[in-house]
Amino acid sequence: MNVLIINGSPRKTGSTTTITNAFGEVAAAHGATVRTYNLNDMRDIRGCQSCTKCWTTGSCALQDDFALPLADHNWADIIVWATPVYMDDMSGILKLFTDRMFSNVKPEYYSDFIPIHGRLGPGKQFVLIQTQAAPADMYEALFKKCATIMRDCGVEDSRWLHCAGLWVQDMEGQAERLQSYKKQARELAREVCKGKELSPIAVTI
Ligand SMILES: Cc1cc2nc3c(=O)[nH]c(=O)nc-3n(C[C@H](O)[C@H](O)[C@H](O)COP(=O)(O)O)c2cc1C
Repeated sequence: MNVLIINGSPRKTGSTTTITNAFGEVAAAHGATVRTYNLNDMRDIRGCQSCTKCWTTGSCALQDDFALPLADHNWADIIVWATPVYMDDMSGILKLFTDRMFSNVKPEYYSDFIPIHGRLGPGKQFVLIQTQAAPADMYEALFKKCATIMRDCGVEDSRWLHCAGLWVQDMEGQAERLQSYKKQARELAREVCKGKELSPIAVTI
């Protein structure tokens, strides 16, 4: 079982990374191979150039630091994207990466508008770990957007860990809340890893 983590937070000790690490640790304890990419560490990165070469080749033509994490979406059974809400949306660096996911959408999607037409193989699960300062009744749209992007890429099963009320400058004051979200992250990791262990494909092999 392979778990891919794409971290869109720049803060190594921030809430997004802390909660996401808790998810990764439990997945690893369940025997998963976990690969984490911190997008903010990458220097050689570019946005989609709209060359549409991916429509014929099936992969992005740009060979920069995003190439490996993009390719690893094929390798992964469980795809985790983690992001703080920045200005009502995902972080800018994750958005840059998201545009490159265009290479995982089949061109026919845009000609006949059949909704599920992605290049990523079947059986994958997507998890969005979303942190924000605002209360929990805000930004459900971000999850819906990410789930739609994943669906366009061929991943139908999307889960959401929504971590509200976390403010960048108050890590100590929100310790209890953070603990609670870490617990939820561990539970979610257990749930999705267990689902994979019991999947028909795993049993057949
Ligand atoms: C540039 C910036 C923009 C932000 N915009 C929002 C926002 O629009 N809505 C919100 O609820 N929180 C916003 N926040 C707060 C963060 O989403 C929140 O504190 C998050 O938990 C930080 O994650 P981190 O600890 O991984 O950095 C913003 C923070 C920053 C630095």
